[in-house]
Amino acid sequence: MTGAWRDTALTRALGMELPIVLGAFGGLSSVALTAAVSNAGGLGSFGLYGYDAERIRATALALREHTGRPFVLNLWLPSGDQNPQTDDSSFRAWLAPLEPYFAELGIALPIQPPRYLPDFDEQFDALLNARPAVASFVFGVPSERQIEQLHSVGTRVIGTATTVAEGRALAAAGVDAVIATGFEAGGHRVSFLAEPENSLIGLLALVPQLVDAVDVPVIAAGGIADARGVAAALTLGASAAQLGTAFLVCTESAISDAHRSRILGADTESTDAESTVLTRFFSGRLARGIPNRMLRELESSGTAPAPFPVQNWLTAHVKAEAARRGDSELMSLWAGQAAPLVRQRDAAELVGALARGTDALLP
Ligand SMILES: Cc1cc2nc3c(=O)[nH]c(=O)nc-3n(C[C@H](O)[C@H](O)[C@H](O)COP(=O)(O)O)c2cc1C
Repeated sequence: MTGAWRDTALTRALGMELPIVLGAFGGLSSVALTAAVSNAGGLGSFGLYGYDAERIRATALALREHTGRPFVLNLWLPSGDQNPQTDDSSFRAWLAPLEPYFAELGIALPIQPPRYLPDFDEQFDALLNARPAVASFVFGVPSERQIEQLHSVGTRVIGTATTVAEGRALAAAGVDAVIATGFEAGGHRVSFLAEPENSLIGLLALVPQLVDAVDVPVIAAGGIADARGVAAALTLGASAAQLGTAFLVCTESAISDAHRSRILGADTESTDAESTVLTRFFSGRLARGIPNRMLRELESSGTAPAPFPVQNWLTAHVKAEAARRGDSELMSLWAGQAAPLVRQRDAAELVGALARGTDALLP
C-alpha cells in the first residue's frame, strides 16, 4: 500500500499525518516554525530552555493561536548546579578567557547575576498547566511523579537518549516514546548516564539497538536532512524521524542571518558546514556546531570553559552583539553533520518534499 510508511505507532498515538518531527531549539525556537510543521502534518517542537513560567504560558497560547494540531513543549531537566554562585575573583576567572571578545565588540563586562536559569519546578508547573499534546525532556529521566502528573492532564511524555542504556532507563520510567539522538546531531549532546564524550554513538548503530531494547516508539534524530534520511530511519525501525538543522534554516526559523548563512555555506567558498565539531567552549556542555575564529582561539588558549550554565550565559552576551552586527566569527553556530544537505525554504515546503521523497522510496 502506497504511503504505509506514514502509519507508525507514533503517528497513530498522536494523530499526526506524517512521522516527521521538528526538533526543539532551546533559545532558538520560533512559534511560526513550530506551528508550520504541525500544520503541515508533522509534529512541531518548541524549546523552552531559559523561559520563565510567564513566557511558557504566553508561548503555549501563541502556539495554540497558530495551530490546532498537536505540538511538543521541551524542557532541559536540571542536573548539576543550575546556579553556581561564587566569589568575585572566581567569577572574574571564568570571564577572563572571554574578555577579549567583550572588548572587541565594545560591550561592558557582566557582573554575576542573581541566577542563571529560571527555577525548574516553576517551568515544569507552567508546562503542565499548558497541557501540550506532548512534553519532551533532555538531560535525564523525568521523575515518576512528573510523568504521572503529565499523563493525568493528557500530555504524553518523550525522553531523549544518546545510548541504549539511557533509552532503557527512560522506558523503565514510563515515558511514551524515546528520541534516539545520534552523534551527528546539531546542538547539545544530552547524555545523562555517562560523560557525553563517552556516549558518541552514530544514529545508524543506535536506532536498531534501541528499537530492540525498548517497547515504546523510537524517534530517530541526528544527521537526517532529506527523504533518504527519513526512509533510512524508518527502515531501521524508528517510528518517526526528527530533523533539527534542516528546519533551523527554514524561512520561519528564529536563527540569526549570520548563523543561517554559515550553515548554508553562503559566506565561504566551500562548505565549512561540513566540518562541524563538538565543543564545550560555547556553553560549558558538549555541543555540535560549525567552528569559527572564537572557537579556534578558545580551543587553543589553554584555558577551560566555565561550567554550564555560566559559560552559556557569558557567551550569550557576546553572541547577542555579534548577531546584531552580523559577525558569525563570535557566536555559537550550532549545526549537525548533515548541514551541507540543507537549504532555505518554507517549513511546509520542506515537509512536503520529505513526504514526496519518502513516498518514492518506501511503500
Ligand atoms: C540550535 C539547536 C538547539 C537545540 N536545542 C535543543 C533543545 O533545547 N532541546 C532538545 O531536546 N533538542 C535540542 N536540539 C536538538 C534538536 O532538537 C534535534 O534533535 C537535532 O538538531 C537533530 O539533529 P540534526 O541537527 O542533525 O537534524 C537543538 C539543536 C540545535 C541545532
